[in-house]
This record gives sequence, C-alpha cells and structure tokens, in this order.
Amino acid sequence: MATNQQGPIGIFDSGYGGLTIFDKIQQLMPGYDYIYLGDNARAPYGTRSFEVVYKFTLQAVKKLFDEGCQLVILACNTASAKALRNIQQKNLPKLAPERRVLGVIRPTVELMDEVSHTKHIGVLGTAETISSRSYTLKIKKMFPHIKVTGQACPMWVPLVENNEFNSPGADYFIKKNLDEILAKDPQIDTLVLGCTHYPLLIDKIRQYVPAGISLFSQGEYVANSLQDYLKRHPGMESRLTRNGTSRFLTTGSATKFSEAATVFLSHPIAVQKVTIDK
Ligand code: DGL
Repeated sequence: MATNQQGPIGIFDSGYGGLTIFDKIQQLMPGYDYIYLGDNARAPYGTRSFEVVYKFTLQAVKKLFDEGCQLVILACNTASAKALRNIQQKNLPKLAPERRVLGVIRPTVELMDEVSHTKHIGVLGTAETISSRSYTLKIKKMFPHIKVTGQACPMWVPLVENNEFNSPGADYFIKKNLDEILAKDPQIDTLVLGCTHYPLLIDKIRQYVPAGISLFSQGEYVANSLQDYLKRHPGMESRLTRNGTSRFLTTGSATKFSEAATVFLSHPIAVQKVTIDK
C-alpha cells in the first residue's frame, strides 16, 4: 500500500451511481484531487449477501488506499449499510489507522426531521439496503417520532447499469414500486432516494410521484457534510492533495464507463480499467 502522507479523496460505488455524489462533491470542492472507482464488473451489489458486499467493498477500499487515497467515501448506500461499520471498526485500525472511510447514510438521516412536515418518510433502496433496516433504525434512533417505511426497488439499478433509463421497462418498474410504498403509508411527504443510482432516474421517478411529495436526493447533502467534516478535522484536511484533478477507475469496460459517465457528468472523461479482486 502507498504510504504517502498526502493523497486524493477516493469515491467508491458498485457502478455509476456514485457519480451522482462525486459530481456534487467536486462542484462544491473543486480544488481537491479525486479518484472515482466503480466496480461495474460486479454491479449490482443490491441483491448480494452481507458477506459478499463486505468483501467487495473492502477490496475497493484497499485499491483506493493503494492509489494513495487518504479518505474514502462509500458513495453507495448498500456498501454503507453492509460494510462501513466493519471496515471502520475491524479493518481500518490494522490497515491504515490514520486514514478514514465515510458513508452516505448518516448525512442523509441527520436531515430527516427538517425535510418532512408529516413526519412520515419513505425510503427507496436496493433489496439489501432495505432489508438491513439501516435507515429505519438510524432515523428511529435520532428522531423517534418519525415513521419510516422502506421499499426495495430491485430493478432500478439494473435499469441504470444497462442504460435502460428511458425504456418502457423503466416506467413499469418505477411506477410499480412507487405505488407500493405509497399504498403502505399514504401520509409520506418525503421519499428518500436511498441508492446513489436513483438520481439518474429522477425525471422518470418525478412522473409517478404525486404532487406534494418531495424527492430527497443525497448528493448535495453528502457534499455539504464532507465539507463540514473537513472543517472539523484539519488533520485529515491537511493530508489531501489539491491539484484539482479527477481520475476514474472501473473494473468493467473503460469504454462503456467513459460513454456512460460522459452522459451523467456532461463532459468527457478518461477511464482506466483495473482489477481489485485479489
Ligand atoms: N448505488 C448503490 C447504492 O447506493 C448500489 C447499487 C447496487 O449496486 O445495487 O445502494
């Protein structure tokens, strides 16, 4: 592992979804260096077991540490729900005690009381994020008066990863899962997009969400929370290099990633194919 005392911020997701977080972080703090890693070859993670998500996420974190990253953001709710705690508590102290790994669930949960008037929140996520009950438990702990209803949307990530955003299949599955969650609790006034891939489907999601219900997209809030974290942790901030560069790594096809990411980020990028499963 690189032993540099300074390096970039790493941003990890199973595939393209984390680009919705990267984009907001980079816009807010363009001065830092970033390395984005998408494990596209093994996405989606959302239907995989705890052990597998943990193993894959740890491999990704090690890869980003090898690349010199001092701070890694798991820009993936599934990995944040399944692997973050173990990585922070079991692996990091041995692997790199001075580096940090942060997730996307906590910065989202912290805002729930502020965003909902009815205090009825719906969380849309992958099957694994919803079955982990991470959002429900964390929101309940922080805001016991809020009612939380989860809905697994297992087809939404494959729609994104396979570039099927605008297909009739996207309409079918998006409407189906939204109808399901709103039938479970008609008082929901805020739907959390609890998967970083979902903002990429936001135009379609909006078509099927009744007026009066807000969609909560995490990117901007995770970016604000990271900025705040760096202010509160000057020791970490001083370990981050500041040349304004961004590199993109994928375990899948570099060409495909580059084409897809260009659409999401609205500018062309260079992508390098890497292996992380060793
Ligand atoms: N984008 C990820 C999330 O936020 C995971 C999607 C997946 O690989 O299933 O949950």
